[in-house]
Amino acid sequence: MCGIVGYLGKKSATPILLSGLKRLEYRGYDSAGICVLENGALRTFKKEGPIQMLATELEKQSLDSQIGIAHTRWATHGRPNEINAHPHYDCHHNIAVVHNGIVENFEGLKILLEKEGHKIVSETDSEIISHLIEKFYKGNLEQAVLEAVRLLEGTFGLAVISTSENKLVAARRGSPLILGIGPDEVFIASDASAIIEYTNQVIYLEDNEIATISESGYKIESLDGHSINNQITEIKWTIEEIEKSGFEHFMLKEIFEQPKAIANALRGRIKDDKIKLSVNFDSKKIDKIIITACGTSWHSALIGKYLLEKIVGIPTEVDYASEFRYRSPIVRENNLLVVISQSGETADTLAALREIKNCETLGIINSVGSTISREVKSGIYLHAGPEIGVASTKAFTSQVASLVLLALYLKEQISGQLDKDLSVELLTIPEKIQSILDQAETIKEISQNLVNAKNLLYLGRGINFPVALEGALKLKEVSYIHAEGYPAAEMKHGPIALIDKNMFVIFIVNHGPIFEKIISNMQEVQARGGRIITITDTKDATIEKLSEFVITVPSVSEELSPLVNIVSLQLISYYVASANGINVDKPRNLAKSVTVE
Ligand code: G6P
Repeated sequence: MCGIVGYLGKKSATPILLSGLKRLEYRGYDSAGICVLENGALRTFKKEGPIQMLATELEKQSLDSQIGIAHTRWATHGRPNEINAHPHYDCHHNIAVVHNGIVENFEGLKILLEKEGHKIVSETDSEIISHLIEKFYKGNLEQAVLEAVRLLEGTFGLAVISTSENKLVAARRGSPLILGIGPDEVFIASDASAIIEYTNQVIYLEDNEIATISESGYKIESLDGHSINNQITEIKWTIEEIEKSGFEHFMLKEIFEQPKAIANALRGRIKDDKIKLSVNFDSKKIDKIIITACGTSWHSALIGKYLLEKIVGIPTEVDYASEFRYRSPIVRENNLLVVISQSGETADTLAALREIKNCETLGIINSVGSTISREVKSGIYLHAGPEIGVASTKAFTSQVASLVLLALYLKEQISGQLDKDLSVELLTIPEKIQSILDQAETIKEISQNLVNAKNLLYLGRGINFPVALEGALKLKEVSYIHAEGYPAAEMKHGPIALIDKNMFVIFIVNHGPIFEKIISNMQEVQARGGRIITITDTKDATIEKLSEFVITVPSVSEELSPLVNIVSLQLISYYVASANGINVDKPRNLAKSVTVE
């Protein structure tokens, strides 16, 4: 949510900043801006709309600068327009700031600064920071930033330049920032995708740290003035992984990457009749599991509850991270808190983790080196590779596969025996998913029937109820068509009132004990004129009769069925949205990584 890039080195700053912004566009895309220091003056360009608008403007300029900052915005305070776009200035245009996060006490600070004569021109909370730096500036930018951020309540990841010094200053509390280290150059970025083209050597800034970059190198200090020697980490993925590789959208590429992503999540982890995970706690002591997450990750958490209770037999609760921290959760020493996050930076999930100090914690995270991954006591990395499409797809299935691994691991640790059948079957999931991807053209044709739909209902039961939720979320996110996920039997208690001849209902029907019951739910929908699309692993004459369209998926154990059932739903969402001309990688109002609460 909001992307920051900064550069100081020997190369021309503008193309580096612009390419970094393009790579970060998935973090926010309502406006963008860039500011470079050229011949002692700050030159700023801002544009409302996608980065391309800014790029077109910059093509007309000839800028000669080796230092600058840039920002792509996801609006929190103030509408998306050029005035509210970053960078923001002080009164005399000597200081420029880009900011990610929320300054919670900005109203009070604004009154104070205006009383002192500062002219604040935007509606943003961020502009306050440039005026505070101006207030404290006495010839040392770093010192002024330090004094300014000490007054801020809330969160910030920020980068600052000024006309008076050839320095780039960055500071962080609660919003991710990294330094990229190259020969004779240093980059600042919200995440590594912005700079991987130039360097794979990065330093993760921790909360309450400030970095000062000049021609002679960089130094990092804590906000209370102690010098810090952060480790340089090597990023393992490559630029190819964040390119579209011939696909029209990242979302489609990532849907098709799922067989590989899941194979990566499982690689080396099922070996010699054992599940190998880097888990640092005694599984036998765990008497309750609490899983917390947001968005799609929350849906995989719900699947995790079914898995952990069925396979391991440990009571498991699931909570939205944003709710968890504001109620009074009962967490005891022998509980395990599992946090699930693709980005590892979601503000609510991080805050929930930080709230709980008294029990074991385990992260299921995709983004290596992210804040959550560094703060949990144990962790399972997904190894799904960078996920760029705003709507999460391959991270979801990799999370579910990792939850199956976690359940198998706990079961094995507690009982001394591996569930061999399930672990062997888990390894076959990539090829099963591939067989669904091979039906993409048929699914695309079916999807064309939904392009004018106004409402959809997704119905599933048991472990596939969260799949119904995730299918409906995917459609809403990228196509803007209203969709609801519901437990199939619950439909009778409300949503059935919506069903008429214009309503499509997507059923997820798997073989097993509730097969007949779900067929009855289909009858109820058909009797009211509803149009049925069924995703099923079972060849059945009644299903054929009741459904307008049937998508057949491979038959797998119930525990693994979400992994195959979700894939057709992801494809349906993609094809409906793209038929409606929506840029599925940047759906309106959404951001990939939500780093504000
Ligand atoms: C945003 C994204 C979702 C994602 C959610 C949680 O809303 O648009 O795709 O599921 O954040 O993100 P996380 O990185 O914590 O999994």
